[in-house]
Amino acid sequence: MRFLPLLFLLPCALSLNILMYVNVIGKSHLQFADKLIELLNKNDHKVDVIMGMLNSLVSLKGSHGARKIIPVHFPGGESPWGSVADHLNNPFVENSNWNPFSMGFAKFIETSEQLCELILDSPEVSSLLSSTQYDVALLTGYDFCPFALAHHYKISKVVSYVPTPSCHIQNYYGGLPDLPLYENMVLDTMHTDRSFFGTRIFETLRTMKDRYVHYTAYTSMNEKLRARFGDSFPDVREISKNISIDFTNSHPLLEEPKPISLRLRYIGGIGLPTPKPLKKELNEILNLSKKGNVLFSFGTQIGPEKITDDMQRVFINTFKRFPEYNFLWKFDGKTQMNASNIFNLDWLPQTDLLYDSRVIGFITHVGLNSFTETSLAGVPIVSIPLFADQLHNAKRATALGTGIMVRKTEITEENLSRALEKILYDERYGRRAKEIASMVSSLPDTPQRIFIEGIEFAAKFEHLSSHYRLIGANHNFFIQTGWDVAAFFTLLLLVLFYSTVKTTLFILRNLPVKVFWKRKMD
Ligand SMILES: *[C@@H]1O[C@H](CO)[C@@H](O)[C@H](O)[C@H]1NC(C)=O
Ligand SMILES: *[C@@H]1O[C@H](CO)[C@@H](O)[C@H](O)[C@H]1NC(C)=O
Ligand SMILES: *[C@@H]1O[C@H](CO)[C@@H](O)[C@H](O)[C@H]1NC(C)=O
Ligand SMILES: *[C@@H]1O[C@H](CO)[C@@H](O)[C@H](O)[C@H]1NC(C)=O
Repeated sequence: MRFLPLLFLLPCALSLNILMYVNVIGKSHLQFADKLIELLNKNDHKVDVIMGMLNSLVSLKGSHGARKIIPVHFPGGESPWGSVADHLNNPFVENSNWNPFSMGFAKFIETSEQLCELILDSPEVSSLLSSTQYDVALLTGYDFCPFALAHHYKISKVVSYVPTPSCHIQNYYGGLPDLPLYENMVLDTMHTDRSFFGTRIFETLRTMKDRYVHYTAYTSMNEKLRARFGDSFPDVREISKNISIDFTNSHPLLEEPKPISLRLRYIGGIGLPTPKPLKKELNEILNLSKKGNVLFSFGTQIGPEKITDDMQRVFINTFKRFPEYNFLWKFDGKTQMNASNIFNLDWLPQTDLLYDSRVIGFITHVGLNSFTETSLAGVPIVSIPLFADQLHNAKRATALGTGIMVRKTEITEENLSRALEKILYDERYGRRAKEIASMVSSLPDTPQRIFIEGIEFAAKFEHLSSHYRLIGANHNFFIQTGWDVAAFFTLLLLVLFYSTVKTTLFILRNLPVKVFWKRKMD
């Protein structure tokens, strides 16, 4: 009895059995998953992982920290996504998804559905899930498949996550309305400004298109699941509404301020590496410039072969205009740049360099990791967004006052020089970047805590979703955004207008005339 109070003081060291589904869309998605697994392991939880190899160009190495790992590949290891992933093949061409009438996202859903069949067919998956009891499932929130899978194997506590800013499914089934004033399709942002009425009209059309794409997606998914598991299998939307928490890789201080729900939790920055000391060689390079160094990288997905000779020349000629600064370019490590202030490296330790005070600028494609990392390191950027959430991130940097954007179709010496002049000569950009870095590090909460405590809480209670899910989840787009009420009032106004006009005409035509005649007859 004497020890009892002591027991209460001990931290609740429960070890959870977690099923994780990772939709391997790109390398960064896998790296993000690795970080989550590492963090869960550190907190004594056991993770089994199913890897849906949507992108067959990404390779798995070992167990990724999981207790069990089951990769599900397309036959022959050839994902159809490879051939439809146009954004990777032609990164500098304007994305066709930005056309409101293109069904670009449908291709992603189609590939995901094919992958889903393979997952549901997999004997390894079924033997793992029928032999293990899971406390909670942690599933990527880009398609319905993992949620249907968890439901089928009776895992009742489910949370979703995305390594990107929050995506459609997370918003739709959490009940968040798509308001035209806010960026809802962050994976598919446009350059236009939403304060213009015309933009909001256009964006509303895009949202309706997206809703339509999702409508067809879940109806076809429902049909497939019912063919497999019987007619009583619930609607996948109903399953998705019961997700307890949606984790998103947005950072609360960096993401666009917008209406969100309690189901959505920002864990931006959770997957970032910590900086290490620089190697001697790089240290010496950084010392060469008295005014400072600028990093330049398009990330890991865009190889040097994607940069045409003409574009190369534009970059080289631009950098030559800033002889007092040195440029560290992650390119091929071979090509002679013929400029004393350009260092062509085939690899650069981005994190370690960004946190070095001699690095004072960054030219980047603003993948989410690079955006969060450079914001945490306090380095202003010239952004050249290519695809996916990159334009969204670039717009965020512009709004925060830490970045200047150059459109990928307008990479010219003039445009690049103008942008570089701003971040190198105008002190406000560097100052603002430092201020934001200091705010982020002073934030009372950490993404690690939000994630781990969120998972542990979700694993405890079955009906958590009913506390967080907005009522909008039970209604369609028109009711969520108040279109039905607006339509009623419009109709009412039309009826009022019509009857007023009719009555006035009637009075004008009949009454005075009759009165006039009546008087005359008298
Ligand atoms: C969702 O959860 C509610 C309770 O909160 C439950 O009644 C319902 O059956 C669940 N739906 C599905 C499809 O699991
Ligand atoms: C770089 O310069 C600093 C002082 O400016 C000096 O302390 C340091 O040793 C130098 N590092 C290298 C690798 O040259
Ligand atoms: C650098 O100069 C060499 C020799 O003149 C030339 O072959 C090469 O194409 C130049 N490199 C670039 C990037 O212009
Ligand atoms: C970039 O250059 C083009 C013409 O070359 C110009 O029309 C455009 O406004 C410039 N964009 C920016 C952001 O300066």
